[in-house]
Amino acid sequence: PDALVIALDGPAASGKGTLAKKIAGQFGLPHLDTGLLYRAVGCGVLDHGGDPGNVAAAIEVAAKLDLAALDEARLRGATMGEAASRVAAIPEVRVVLLDLQRRFAAQPGGAVLDGRDIGTVICPDAKVKIFVTATPEVRAERRFKELAGRGEAVTFEDVLADIERRDARDSSRTTAPLVAAADAHLLDTTTLDIDAAFRAALDIIGRR
Ligand code: C5P
Repeated sequence: PDALVIALDGPAASGKGTLAKKIAGQFGLPHLDTGLLYRAVGCGVLDHGGDPGNVAAAIEVAAKLDLAALDEARLRGATMGEAASRVAAIPEVRVVLLDLQRRFAAQPGGAVLDGRDIGTVICPDAKVKIFVTATPEVRAERRFKELAGRGEAVTFEDVLADIERRDARDSSRTTAPLVAAADAHLLDTTTLDIDAAFRAALDIIGRR
């Protein structure tokens, strides 16, 4: 009843992950970056020499997913986002990952989850829903700095193209597309740094 479930959704590199982490720290709640689940499925299929569009292979990897064994650093690499977005368009993969996410959200004190469909599908009854946006250029700039900072050989143009391709695929798929829940608060971080975005999010949470 008084469990504080906070749902953050939004397009790639909107800042939702960073915000989710800070909010979870502030309220002492567990945090799940659900994008990592799809990245892990995409990665698993690639590792077995498969194609992320292969439905049977993706379902098999999803069913065997082990949360504790995720290699975050590797999954955040540039090539994994594309594979994630492709397996994420497979309805059966989403069904397999649904339970795991719902169980995570059902922890006694609540939880913070970030992704694309948390407020719409995974946790429609979340206490607070925030839809985080920013212009594609600003998001690409952030992601470019993050990847370049980790030594990945990427260009700004490549990162922007990847983000726009993924947004288009995520928004147009028929199952759980990227869309703001009707009762979500919109948070545009285009001109906000992390601290300002965090304050704005706390403000939204405080008004619940
Ligand atoms: O957030 P992140 O960029 O790590 O997500 C990778 C991909 O996983 C997204 O492009 C999207 O296709 C998929 N995803 C999803 N639903 C979620 C989280 C991520 O479809 N809840």
